[in-house]
Amino acid sequence: AAPAALRAQLLRWYDVHRRDLPWRCASGSEEERAYAVWVSEVMLQQTRVPVVVGYYERWMARWPTVRSLAAATQEEVNEIWAGLGYYRRARFLMEGAKQIMEKGVFPCTASALREVHGIGDYTAGAIASIAFNEVVPVVDGNVVRVISRLYAIADNPKESSTVKRFWELAGQMVDPLRPGDFNQAMMELGATLCSKTKPGCSECPVSSHCQALALSHENSVRVTDFP
Ligand code: ADE
Repeated sequence: AAPAALRAQLLRWYDVHRRDLPWRCASGSEEERAYAVWVSEVMLQQTRVPVVVGYYERWMARWPTVRSLAAATQEEVNEIWAGLGYYRRARFLMEGAKQIMEKGVFPCTASALREVHGIGDYTAGAIASIAFNEVVPVVDGNVVRVISRLYAIADNPKESSTVKRFWELAGQMVDPLRPGDFNQAMMELGATLCSKTKPGCSECPVSSHCQALALSHENSVRVTDFP
């Protein structure tokens, strides 16, 4: 398991540096927040935060609830999605909303969320941890990089056995009290300081736990030698 100090340092950094994003509101019911996280996470899968904000706001103004989205048509969602690409994602959101309305309840665990059409491990983990406080990990490309450096794992991140290992490690690391904030902190660290080519190790809140950085001090290995 991750040392408690790593979790505490990462969360303290996140509390100071977290961006104020429209889907990070603490208001509303769990279901309202789950819907907001779902929409934002699907949009964020191939698009950067500053671009997503405008799309997110237009989407939520048009379909503020799962119920309203379930009544939308493919043409309508495509129109709002235009420019984001991968229109399949918009269709999955709409079909997922219809499926949830048929069931009558918003699934509140990662494993139940996985049953929804179009929701994979990543989105299920994000919704369950951020909106429902379930202690489950989230692994995206940024998290892979952070973990590979913390544990000095140089395995090819494109191999499924590597990905499986990262999900296991992330599952051991996630903070039991603030799983959603912990997961977002990991993603945010990977998106900002722990960048691919120019990591800001001197400002990193968890540099004292980073095995890649320790190796780089000891010999010719570089932090950027890890994915
Ligand atoms: N990238 C994708 N989803 C994110 C989130 N919830 N927080 C930070 N970065 C993200």
